[in-house]
Amino acid sequence: TGARTPLIAGNWKMNLDHLQSIAFVQKLAWSLRDANLDFGSVEVAVFPPFTDLRSVQTLVSADDLPIAFGAQDLSAHDSGAYTGEISGAFLAALDARYVIIGHSERRQYHGETDELIAAKVAAAHRHGLVPIICVGETAEDLETHGPSAVPVAQLRIALEGVVAGSEIVVAYEPVWAIGSGQAATSAQAQQVCEALRAVVAEVLGDEAAAATRILYGGSVKAANIAGFLKEPDVDGALVGGASLQLEEFASIVRFKS
Ligand code: G3P
Repeated sequence: TGARTPLIAGNWKMNLDHLQSIAFVQKLAWSLRDANLDFGSVEVAVFPPFTDLRSVQTLVSADDLPIAFGAQDLSAHDSGAYTGEISGAFLAALDARYVIIGHSERRQYHGETDELIAAKVAAAHRHGLVPIICVGETAEDLETHGPSAVPVAQLRIALEGVVAGSEIVVAYEPVWAIGSGQAATSAQAQQVCEALRAVVAEVLGDEAAAATRILYGGSVKAANIAGFLKEPDVDGALVGGASLQLEEFASIVRFKS
């Protein structure tokens, strides 16, 4: 991890309405402050549903909470006749810092292709958002192509439109580990994250590769987070189920203590 500040990101998926989101974020901030978390040593971010973002923004800015937030998706377009889509411009206007792009659930249930994901990454950057680009192989891919081939190929395409100097975060989420309780081992995560960093180096240069945070996601919990963060190329976690359990998520954020 070195000079990279670890990022612990909670992807709420389609859970918690705007009222629940306010209560959760408030309690999370209290819990982390009570535990004397050094907010300089780890970055915490939550990814609520779109309908919660305005509420979370209001709370975070009113109480000056050290919690970042972002959206779970965005449109590849900036405005216009795209019913149901959300522009990166709207997210930027809400002070969102991040946006998750290409989550395997979007790829799987909404037919998102690598090309669409590349267009969304470019859209995020047009609006000053930091894309969290998700890649990962299915169990079948793993058997057929081995551990790194599919995530590496996905990342190469996703980075096609990235201009050097724009910040990205990469999240390696093996599909077989998501919501299964069966996390990858830290050695498996390291192997793929290292290969992904090499792709960033190849496309954006060594300096960008050294600065880019690469997260692991898939059944992360308080009991396994420290192992992942010990790996040199794993710089944080994208947490699903456990990010909805207040104390569990707070323990993940406090992985060092
Ligand atoms: O984006 C995070 C996610 O897909 C991992 O989910 O529930 O296995 O932590 P979970």
